[in-house]
Amino acid sequence: MFNKRMRIKELLASESTNYETTVMGWVRTFRNNQFIALNDGSTNHNIQIVAALGKFEEDLLKRITTGACIKATGEVIPSLGKGQRVELKAISIEILGDSDAEKFPLQPKKHSLEFLREIAHLRFRTNTFGAIFRVRHTLAFAVHKFFNDKGFVYLHTPIITASDAEGAGETFRVTTLPIDGSAPKNEDGSINFKEDFFGRSTNLTVSGQLEGELAAMAFSDIYTFGPTFRAENSNTARHLAEFWMIEPEMAFYDLEDNANLAEAFIKFIIGYALEHNKEDLEFLAQRLAEEEKALPQDKRSELGLMEKLDFVVNNDFERVTYTEAIDILRESNHNKKKKFQYLIDKWGIDLQSEHERYLVEKHFKKPVILTNYPAEIKAFYMRQNDGCEPGRQTVAAMDILAPGIGEIVGGSQREERLDKLEQRMKEMNIPTEDLWWYLDTRKFGACPHAGFGLGFERLVQFVTGMGNIRDVIPFPRYPKTAEF
Ligand code: 4AD
Ligand code: MG
Repeated sequence: MFNKRMRIKELLASESTNYETTVMGWVRTFRNNQFIALNDGSTNHNIQIVAALGKFEEDLLKRITTGACIKATGEVIPSLGKGQRVELKAISIEILGDSDAEKFPLQPKKHSLEFLREIAHLRFRTNTFGAIFRVRHTLAFAVHKFFNDKGFVYLHTPIITASDAEGAGETFRVTTLPIDGSAPKNEDGSINFKEDFFGRSTNLTVSGQLEGELAAMAFSDIYTFGPTFRAENSNTARHLAEFWMIEPEMAFYDLEDNANLAEAFIKFIIGYALEHNKEDLEFLAQRLAEEEKALPQDKRSELGLMEKLDFVVNNDFERVTYTEAIDILRESNHNKKKKFQYLIDKWGIDLQSEHERYLVEKHFKKPVILTNYPAEIKAFYMRQNDGCEPGRQTVAAMDILAPGIGEIVGGSQREERLDKLEQRMKEMNIPTEDLWWYLDTRKFGACPHAGFGLGFERLVQFVTGMGNIRDVIPFPRYPKTAEF
């Protein structure tokens, strides 16, 4: 058996000393031909290994370079140096994998996030990305814990589908037909997808919601947590072409129940990370504070990262209707002084991220749940509100907006009335024949139900304080980039 080792996190936390143990990991630095800082990813802290002068062969010492992988056995002793309680006095050192110091791209110095993105295969070995991806793990674990504790069923919805759940036409096609022009054609010259692998045109999913609704009509409460794909050409710090989404769907929920669940959910997972990943979050808070020092005073965050997370966990989210939000925005000095790129002049317009951020960061200074949007700017499946003013038809939609991020959750109560749903689909050119199975649930035991989707990377961004979404997913996919 090879894997007889102590994780560095446990070793650093252990109270006792004067026992022998083995560690394995990657060399961060090697000082004075004597002091090795070793990291195994269990924590950002390194264990100091002392290779007593004269005890080890020169040939071996030369191979202890930044990036090399080693196995060290030694005695755990109280540390003489500052900054650590214990260190390892090496008895034996074995090189598991050499790393050519001249060629290893990660030097023991500060690298830019942009540079690290280009070496995403190695960036896990930095303190920043070590912390980010441990936090990401904890958040993912907390997602499952939250729903499992509430009795929700975790549902795996398909990755390959024939539908566009959001109806926004931003899908990636999936096909095995040749792309050199020799694909079989119909008489009218269009591609004959009957000859394709699935016998029809298929794409990567943009959302598991529609299938989630089917299962909610049996289990009452389900959630999905899987990858989703959008071919939107958005080169922003908040968009990815491949991202992970959590989509709970609940029978017997109205919009308010839905908002309550979403708020409790966000608070729980952030609280869970604060409890289980404090050290990494404190590191990231420090990183953010350093980064913000370079900014002018008015561009810096009012709260530090830890204070911001505590604040979100301990305060109610603001709940506002779209109509109220439009009034606030229209009357704002920002709008009057024409500081918005898109001025707010009438009811019915879609909110841009500058408007969302104004509401959250300047006006309310807390997360906001915006409800009851105009039907015209939302998806076909959202429930049409009754008794709207003429020309102001709204739907039971909700978006949750977070400081620094903007939209983090999108959801709604669903239209369970067959006639209304069918009519809306026709108006929006959503093919009712293709979605016969979706419509069936409105024929056989329909009930009020609701759900939402939380963009996992946006949540990770919020919790880690990272400015760019490309830095919170291991291998980001965005326009013109699919390396690794
Ligand atoms: O608002 P969206 O498009 O809603 C849906 O997909 C619904 N089917 C959800 C539901 O009701 N079950 O997306 C939901 C969330 C957004 O609020 C955002 O956080 C995230 O997914 N999101 C993205 N995250 C990263 N990159 C992108 N391109 C994203 N598009 C949406
Ligand atoms: Mg949305």
